[in-house]
Amino acid sequence: TTTRYYEFVISEATGSPNGFERTMLVVNNQFPGPLVEVNSGDELVVNVFNQLPNGTTIHWHGQLQNGTNYMDGTNGITQCPIPPGMNFTYRFTINPSQYGTFWYHAHASTQYTDGIYGPLVIHSPSEPIFGQYDRDALVILSDWYDVMSSGLLTQYLSSAGIDGSNYGGVNPGAEPPPDSGLINGKMNGSSFDLEPNLSYRLRIINMGTLTEFMFSVDSHVLSVVEADGISIEPVNVHRVPIHVAQRYSVILTTNQTAGSYNVRGEMQSSCYKLSNPNLNTMVLATMTYGASPTTPNTQDWSDAIPALCLDLNSTMIVPQIAMDPPNSTDVVQVFMSFQQTIQSGGTQTLAFMNSTSWLSDTTNPTLLQMSKAGIQTTFDSNQLVVVNDNITVFDLILNNYDDASHPFHLHGHVFWILGEGDGSYTSGVSQLSTTNPPRRDTLTLPGYGWVAIRFITDNPGLWAFHCHIGWHMAAGLLMQFADLPGQIQQLQIPSYLSDQCAQQGGGVVAN
Ligand code: C2O
Repeated sequence: TTTRYYEFVISEATGSPNGFERTMLVVNNQFPGPLVEVNSGDELVVNVFNQLPNGTTIHWHGQLQNGTNYMDGTNGITQCPIPPGMNFTYRFTINPSQYGTFWYHAHASTQYTDGIYGPLVIHSPSEPIFGQYDRDALVILSDWYDVMSSGLLTQYLSSAGIDGSNYGGVNPGAEPPPDSGLINGKMNGSSFDLEPNLSYRLRIINMGTLTEFMFSVDSHVLSVVEADGISIEPVNVHRVPIHVAQRYSVILTTNQTAGSYNVRGEMQSSCYKLSNPNLNTMVLATMTYGASPTTPNTQDWSDAIPALCLDLNSTMIVPQIAMDPPNSTDVVQVFMSFQQTIQSGGTQTLAFMNSTSWLSDTTNPTLLQMSKAGIQTTFDSNQLVVVNDNITVFDLILNNYDDASHPFHLHGHVFWILGEGDGSYTSGVSQLSTTNPPRRDTLTLPGYGWVAIRFITDNPGLWAFHCHIGWHMAAGLLMQFADLPGQIQQLQIPSYLSDQCAQQGGGVVAN
């Protein structure tokens, strides 16, 4: 196998992605972080040097990590944060069955919101689209704040809330609305200089914290061919909705009149509980071919949303390599909600999965607890852990008691999406589909709705399942699956992982 070696230096820097100068967090002084590019089956080694004043971890979003759960990079679950001034080497094999578009990001509190994220692309001749297009390009969408996330998070979780009206007010749990949107790390300044009459694979990744985007390019039809690393039957659309942490590849052909065109990332701000009057929700970049770049005066597609727009979970996403899930052996229903809670520090609005609001234990990750104590481990009341002793075909039915849609991500697995709907799920309904359902790693749970997923619990370790909205995860919207606890003690957990936990002074990650 080939080993791909990278060094990441994580540090603070001064930057102004939207024109407003602030302290932000960067990988190798780049924003977004450097592209990590591998082939299926390669070994990836990333030595991460932490030059932040706080601890950090890096998560490889969508990587299956079969047999290497301890390299998943989730603070409080698979490792302790890398202390300031220390380094940690992530080393794992890219699953030979995986290809497509992924990303990496800090997985400690809301740190990634401040800039620690970048793309991860896996190439493979087995990918159905291999060799079918001329060029690759990255489109990284993100929302952006003018201040560090740690302060916003404290305010968001406090009894006053972001707008001062949280407890007893009209907006319990109202998230901080972003100040800008960015395309490839810039507000309205990015350019795509392409060649005429070629087909481009645009790999669209939403690395934001709160915002779903609607992506489009004026006058160009987008043929969607990949969703979260799964090749899908091509669908031609004008607009692609993409929620936080999701990825799509689209094929765009540069066959229109030579010139410059608007590339649009429209922020779906109607989902915000608080509005920001200074936010410009239409983020623009310029795509040019066959001519010198000019400021485009092209028009947005005139058709109303959702006409000619990808339908996220259901019928439009058909995997090219068909795979019907086996019959399920286990079913669990989970309800997510936000609730006002009396904490020692006062009243907070926290996020709950069933009756549990996750609190990361940065000095005692659940993986290490389980590998030391074995399968009898019982976790404290802040940890909802579903333990699967055997390989099961697991159905998870997730009900949303909140009015907003939530992007949920499962670590270490690709799941089938069997169905979704409004209201609460009622058992026995027939709308669960088991004929080549969509497979992905990040779903969109509709507001006041439900979604049913199925996955196979064959990957020993502790896997997070959480809302990828940074504020929500930090408020506790996370649960874990413990696959095959009997095999966790056999994992080759490097000793420096437990050593770093022993070195934690406590409170290393700002929270
Ligand atoms: Cu993108 Cu828990 O991860």
